[in-house]
Amino acid sequence: MDSVKYEKGKLLLLDQTKLPVQVVFLEYVDYLSVADAIRSMKVRGAPAIGVAAAYGVVLAAHQYKKLERIVFSNKMEEALNKLRETRPTAVNLFWALERMAKVLEANDLEVSEIVNRLEKEAILIQEEDLAMNIKMGFLGQKLLSPGVNILTHCNAGALATAGYGTALGVIRAAAKEGKVNMVYVDETRPLLQGSRLTAFELMEEGIPVTLITDNMAAFFMQQGKIDCVIVGADRITANGDVANKIGTYGVAVLANYHNIPFYVAAPSSTFDLSLQTGKDIPIEERNPDEIRKIGEVWIAPKKVNVLNPAFDVTPHQLITAIITDKGIIESDYKLNIKGMFF
Ligand code: MRU
Repeated sequence: MDSVKYEKGKLLLLDQTKLPVQVVFLEYVDYLSVADAIRSMKVRGAPAIGVAAAYGVVLAAHQYKKLERIVFSNKMEEALNKLRETRPTAVNLFWALERMAKVLEANDLEVSEIVNRLEKEAILIQEEDLAMNIKMGFLGQKLLSPGVNILTHCNAGALATAGYGTALGVIRAAAKEGKVNMVYVDETRPLLQGSRLTAFELMEEGIPVTLITDNMAAFFMQQGKIDCVIVGADRITANGDVANKIGTYGVAVLANYHNIPFYVAAPSSTFDLSLQTGKDIPIEERNPDEIRKIGEVWIAPKKVNVLNPAFDVTPHQLITAIITDKGIIESDYKLNIKGMFF
């Protein structure tokens, strides 16, 4: 299922806030609305927001292409900044915008040629992400034994990427090999990416899925029902620390206690080697009403004090291996990540 589609000057985003009840594509022709879609999580998941932002830049270029050259450049700089400000944690957003910014640096070209090149770059970012996911699936499924029972957290599937998925890509590839007995899916409070999106995606694929609430993972691990955990990532630092959806760290601690392998699947675009450790990763704090309400229903006192970090950081010591498109990375992470990327 494609969550981001581009058709001749129009961007179509599958509204993930409406899933699984409605499957609705929204049409975008101006970049500010794309920025808003990223902020409000109509499109979400680290690679998907990178792809959507890249197309946001293309839309901005179409909006401003008739302006005088200098005004065009200023407006494009403004567009890049507005898109950068949408969500702070997933590095794929900044990675994709950096690639688009590089295209804009070609000052000697006609604006029409720049617009063509921006379009090509965004399409390439999308195609490369899909290819990386398929590669990770192929490599990652080799780590899994036949009959495996997997736990996953949040949604790191086709919806969160250009297609196929990172963690769910590995699960998809393993299921194709007939290896998957059951995928346990944490519902993933507060925005329920597990129950709304991952359960939906796996059911569409015919992969066996059991939905559990976040506080049940320990119980099922203790019962021996889970053989491994596979999650995605929003940012991985030079030492192998991983930012992912809030609750991931807790699952990693539980897996460690129960001696269960904990795998992270992430494409090269999720690595931020400019940061040494996870302590440096900016963690997005979201609207408190996401905790106080489910949909339109209040489930807490309207004015209760709330903390709502959208991500946490899992230290590399708790990670058995990181599955990437370039290969599988194990400890010593600092050394092996450096070896893989330089
Ligand atoms: O807040 P979200 O839904 O954008 O968070 C998404 C996650 O944390 C995913 O696990 C991560 O982006 C990996 S997606 C391939």
